[in-house]
Amino acid sequence: MIHYIFSTSEKCDSFIFFKMGKFHFVALFIVSFVFMFLTLFNGEILVMAAGTSDGSESWGYVEVRPKAHMFWWYYKSPYRTKDPNNPWPIILWLQGGPGASGVGTGNFEEVGPLDSFLKPRNSTWLTKADLLFVDNPVGTGYSFVEDEELLVKTDEEAATDLTTLLIEIFNRNETLQKSPLYIVAESYGGKYAVTLGLSALKAIQDKKLKLILGGIALGDSWISPEDFVVSWAPLLKYVSRIDDNGLAEANSLVDKIKQQIAAGKWKAATDTWGDLEGVISTNTNSVDFYNFLLDSGMDPVSMIATELVRQTPRKRYSRYLDSLRTSPGENGDLGLLMNGAIRKKLGIIPDNVEWGGQSGLVFTYLEGDFMKPRINEVDELLNKGVNVTIYNGQLDVICATKGTEAWVEKLKWEGLKTFLSIDRIPLYCGDGKITKGFTKSYRNLHFYWILEAGHFVPVDQPCIALDMVGSITRSSISTR
Ligand SMILES: *[C@@H]1O[C@H](CO)[C@@H](O)[C@H](O)[C@H]1NC(C)=O
Ligand SMILES: *[C@@H]1O[C@H](CO)[C@@H](O)[C@H](O)[C@H]1NC(C)=O
Ligand SMILES: *[C@@H]1O[C@H](CO)[C@@H](O)[C@H](O)[C@H]1NC(C)=O
Repeated sequence: MIHYIFSTSEKCDSFIFFKMGKFHFVALFIVSFVFMFLTLFNGEILVMAAGTSDGSESWGYVEVRPKAHMFWWYYKSPYRTKDPNNPWPIILWLQGGPGASGVGTGNFEEVGPLDSFLKPRNSTWLTKADLLFVDNPVGTGYSFVEDEELLVKTDEEAATDLTTLLIEIFNRNETLQKSPLYIVAESYGGKYAVTLGLSALKAIQDKKLKLILGGIALGDSWISPEDFVVSWAPLLKYVSRIDDNGLAEANSLVDKIKQQIAAGKWKAATDTWGDLEGVISTNTNSVDFYNFLLDSGMDPVSMIATELVRQTPRKRYSRYLDSLRTSPGENGDLGLLMNGAIRKKLGIIPDNVEWGGQSGLVFTYLEGDFMKPRINEVDELLNKGVNVTIYNGQLDVICATKGTEAWVEKLKWEGLKTFLSIDRIPLYCGDGKITKGFTKSYRNLHFYWILEAGHFVPVDQPCIALDMVGSITRSSISTR
């Protein structure tokens, strides 16, 4: 049904010809766009990349499976150091959804060097590490599949594709191989992060992937759907946003979800999850699932980000989606930016690939995995000695701290008891005297409680988020 320009070898050739022609033209007038290489294998494009002349940015597609194309964008930090005793870190940012674009949302709305108005972001994480954004899984953002059936159905399938991408990017560059990679996830991205962590470790062990895994950070991550849905109504009750009637109505659906999960009826559980969101919205006069101090659609990122709720099928939650669509005060339109100025700059996005065009389908294909927990994967990573950091915004509802603490307490990891018993350390930022958060660590498990932040921690608390990420990655740069 959907045809892309390099789906046949004939069209592929004309694409290369066109691009090369454009390349010469562009090189004459715009100095920044200078390299582009294509690796041809059996007449098929496996890797296609381009970048800026100074090497500060590169981007490309990796064909992670035949006809499944994953887009990535790498930013080299201007602060990058060459100290072998303290290797410069790289952050791989994994967005949620499923179906939300890391290249779009994570990059331009949260932590990249430019905001969605293309103005410099002074809190960019690029001051602490190199940044690698991906449109994961395939079908998200600029990534695309030539056949719908190639979309992933499980977190593990997504992790396998991401591992293939890392092999393509890291195995061909010795500089990158010396840099530890930190996988930092938000929301549903946490489920990809833990499955990718295990898949990458296996590929490293099997000598298929040349990479140092520095650690994994789970920001407001959907690791245990059951613990989160259980947390929603009681949390909202404590903060006066729902009453006892709403609580009772929500709890009956929570019981249904628990039964469906226990019976392994994953798709049905996803449906009931959607019904529960409807009940919560109705009984709270549309609380914002990303920040309980706001009404839905008020959070500037959630309006633009195709995050968890927005990806739900239109027919079921049209009221909620409509309220998002018509909410006043919408600022920089990410869709227009990504399908306009940015695709023009990148120069390699096929004409018939629309940024976000297949994102809705990505969620639909993952419906059977959406409600599955990934607590065991966190346990496995902890047992393998990987540094795991969990951070959570105080005001988040969808991945509420209450739910995160509940799944942490289910870990079988032997250090848990001590971790739970030790005291937290208060956090401040800059010259501020106000408590910005708390943290504690025991062995390789680290937890940050970030105050006055909702789901999108780096946006709501850029100062403390930057300090935190510098500390997670043990970055040699101290910008403060
Ligand atoms: C970034 O800019 C904002 C607004 O001008 C300012 O309040 C903040 O302190 C700056 N942050 C950093 C890390 O320089
Ligand atoms: C490898 O990565 C480094 C760091 O970003 C970059 O400077 C260099 O140009 C890359 N080398 C190749 C061959 O792409
Ligand atoms: C985990 O983090 C701690 C503290 O930053 C560090 O000392 C340790 O070397 C890290 N472990 C691994 C395996 O990277």
